[in-house]
Amino acid sequence: MTRRVLVLNGPNLNLLGTREPEVYGADTLDDVLANLRRHVEGRDVELRAVQSNIEGELVDALHEARTWADGVVFNPGAFTHYSIALRDAISGTGLAVVETHLSNVHAREEFRHRSVLAAVCLGVVAGFGADSYLVALDGLLRHLEQQEPAS
Ligand code: DQA
Repeated sequence: MTRRVLVLNGPNLNLLGTREPEVYGADTLDDVLANLRRHVEGRDVELRAVQSNIEGELVDALHEARTWADGVVFNPGAFTHYSIALRDAISGTGLAVVETHLSNVHAREEFRHRSVLAAVCLGVVAGFGADSYLVALDGLLRHLEQQEPAS
């Protein structure tokens, strides 16, 4: 059974590799996506990637994912901390979403400690750099396997 996963990235994540590399690492977003694809090679997993700096486009991507995706690995960037529109999109679509961060947001500025999305997500992964995406995808795939009716 093919598992279809949206890898969704929010604002400023297109700058990965050059943006504050001491915080976010040297990998570009393309490197992160290539790593993810390598990670699931040989498994029946389809990954589609979307990045946008625009809140409404991320809402649209979540709405569209409802029609094809089994789950979402989502790094909402700064929107994590204040976007009620994204929270409503996650709860409204009922998608299994893993909130994902490269940095350990809890070890940073206080305004990053709060997520308005986490409570409507399946889980949260933070602090493993680019590997956070691999951990998030593994967690999501294991969750989806457990949902599968026994044959
Ligand atoms: C981030 C953490 C956010 O606080 C920040 O605004 C980002 C990136 C992370 O991946 O660590 O843009 O989501």
